[in-house]
Amino acid sequence: MSENQVKILSGAPIAEAIKKEVAAEVKSLSENHGFCPCLAVVRVGEDPASAVYVGNKVKTSQELGLISEHHHLSAETTQDELLKVVNDLNERDDVDGILVQLPLPKQIDDKVILEAINPEKDVDGFHPINVGRLASGQKSLVPCTPAGVIEILKRYEIEIKGKHAVIVGRSNIVGKPMAQLLLQNDATVTICHSRTTNLPAVTSQADILVAAIGRAGFIRGEHIGNGAVVVDVGINNVSDVDFAHELFGEDELEKRLAVIEKRGSTLVGDVNPKEAKAKASAFTPVPGGVGLLTIAMLMKNTVDAAKMRRKI
Ligand code: GUN
Repeated sequence: MSENQVKILSGAPIAEAIKKEVAAEVKSLSENHGFCPCLAVVRVGEDPASAVYVGNKVKTSQELGLISEHHHLSAETTQDELLKVVNDLNERDDVDGILVQLPLPKQIDDKVILEAINPEKDVDGFHPINVGRLASGQKSLVPCTPAGVIEILKRYEIEIKGKHAVIVGRSNIVGKPMAQLLLQNDATVTICHSRTTNLPAVTSQADILVAAIGRAGFIRGEHIGNGAVVVDVGINNVSDVDFAHELFGEDELEKRLAVIEKRGSTLVGDVNPKEAKAKASAFTPVPGGVGLLTIAMLMKNTVDAAKMRRKI
């Protein structure tokens, strides 16, 4: 049997191209319009993953010439105190984008905070106004991860129009906006979730399969039709060596076992990479795939928000 030829859709060159475009736009706004877009990131508490994500967002903003502010509040912050910080940022004319990092401590209701952000500055695209605008095909700020998936597909010249796109996962952050964006690009869209019966029968029909479930290696060979394009949005830590043997083929296993030995775990998406490589025509790796696009799209959203609000 001849081996399946699979194309690896690396996120790095796409993220670099987008960041280069954003940096050029920031330079042009500064030279021609006399301002520099400003992103304010708010982090509450000491969640270690959030600290890394926010650090990367601030660092990338600075690399691209954006102004960035990091507002770090204590884990005991009340909802009213956080609302005051958001309202102050809403009122400041120099602030173009506001991002409140999730998860928030349990005394704070995410929904109340996300709805308090001025929709014009909502660079996450989570405000109901932006969700509604996206659903009704109006210009809006779009959640960064699904927007990044569309960039990967387009820039690798993978046709979306007329294709059957199947999304596994129905979160507000990825699954639902992903469905809207694929629909806008003329795909036929199916959303599957934890209550879908006979999942492999549905997912194996996909020309484009997007996995956003949050479970390491959940999508197996039986879920993937021959020649499908598989987009893996998951980011999970795997520390179990036996499980690593199930996930990785000879090409990767040794490297991954060394990572587990050194750091205690290795990053794995929602797709079993060994089995995806045997069936897919193309797939996004983890790490090094979709994840790299999320920050690049946040930078793009900040510039877009600045231009829309300032009517440029
Ligand atoms: N936490 C994990 N991902 C995200 C994201 O995209 N936006 C925000 N605000 N918080 C997150």
